[in-house]
Amino acid sequence: MARTLTLLGLESSCDETAAAVVRQAEGAAPEILASVVEGQAQLHAAFGGVVPEIAARAHAEKLDLCVEAALAEAALDLSDLDAIAVTAGPGLIGGVLAGVMCAKGIAAGAGLPLVGVNHLAGHALTPRLTDGLAFPYLMLLVSGGHAQFLMVRGAERFARLGGTIDDAPGEAFDKTAKLLGLTQPGGPAVEAAAATGDAARFAFPRPLLDRPGCDLSFSGLKTALMRARDELVAAQGGLHEQDRRDLCAGFQAAVADVLTEKTRRALAATGDDRPTAFAVAGGVAANATIRARLEAVAADHGLPFVAPPLSLCTDNAAMIAWAGLERFRAGQRDGFDLTARPRWPLDTAAPALVGSGRKGAKA
Ligand code: KG4
Ligand code: ZN
Repeated sequence: MARTLTLLGLESSCDETAAAVVRQAEGAAPEILASVVEGQAQLHAAFGGVVPEIAARAHAEKLDLCVEAALAEAALDLSDLDAIAVTAGPGLIGGVLAGVMCAKGIAAGAGLPLVGVNHLAGHALTPRLTDGLAFPYLMLLVSGGHAQFLMVRGAERFARLGGTIDDAPGEAFDKTAKLLGLTQPGGPAVEAAAATGDAARFAFPRPLLDRPGCDLSFSGLKTALMRARDELVAAQGGLHEQDRRDLCAGFQAAVADVLTEKTRRALAATGDDRPTAFAVAGGVAANATIRARLEAVAADHGLPFVAPPLSLCTDNAAMIAWAGLERFRAGQRDGFDLTARPRWPLDTAAPALVGSGRKGAKA
């Protein structure tokens, strides 16, 4: 019998505290009944990055308020839910623990089943929530904490084709902004400055393009930008506004080139296993230059390009409720022994990614 499922989802693995309610009648398009996201940017602003202890404490304080707000927005109470889904990793462990403990408390109190969700699976399954994509599809996740190419074959079947071996691209945008005295988060500030810059003035490297495969690296690019900045400062005693714009344009062009070429390779690597679409998620996918280049690669391969709306590309709990709903419908449940995991690769057959940045483990 077709069954309608309604799940509450919780997310607290980085610096957004979020709760959402998603409903799906079997075989029909899912509906987001509520999505509440409480950012912590102002709490971390003075420190130039996410401070894990401050994040964990804020999650513990805000989670139940976000749950109340999400249920009120959906006009539901706990008895209307079929299960509760929660991010159980990867991420900053204090925040993940706060979410898992909150979900266990609600599950125990309301007698609801519990479903642990991998945060990366939440991002990777979002195109099914927003656009109903059929498996398999190729996904590029590019955010402040993650960078990986995933072939998404099923709700729990992922093949990682490549990923960053050091920084995530959003992290590189943020560090670039910091080096140039621009505002945080760096992505939008660097993109705005790059709009009137000359991308050809500085010859920045295109890291790892000389090596086969789909792995990515951004830390060398950041170092090259720092050297170029230091040379200008030494020669002129400071940076002119146009220098900043040109540095940003050169940096953004290098990131765009690398992501474009690696996407080409990832699509070529799918071989006969033709994906139904190429999808992107993560804050960096908001960058108009990068997005246009990626869209063009998809078009060259005759594939639809899917970029969920930004509010669902960046960290949120609707993606967790949805990934939980997919698991729950497939009969998956977790017990009260569900653990919070700082690292949790989606593809356990692929070698571990070594990077672990400011925003926690990369996988
Ligand atoms: O997905 P997200 O909201 O959070 C996680 O990292 O999980 O991504 C945030 C990252 C930040 O590093 C931010 O600088 C970057 O995405 N970002 C951008 C742009 N907007 C946000 N990077 C480049 N261009 C943008 N327009
Ligand atoms: Zn994320």
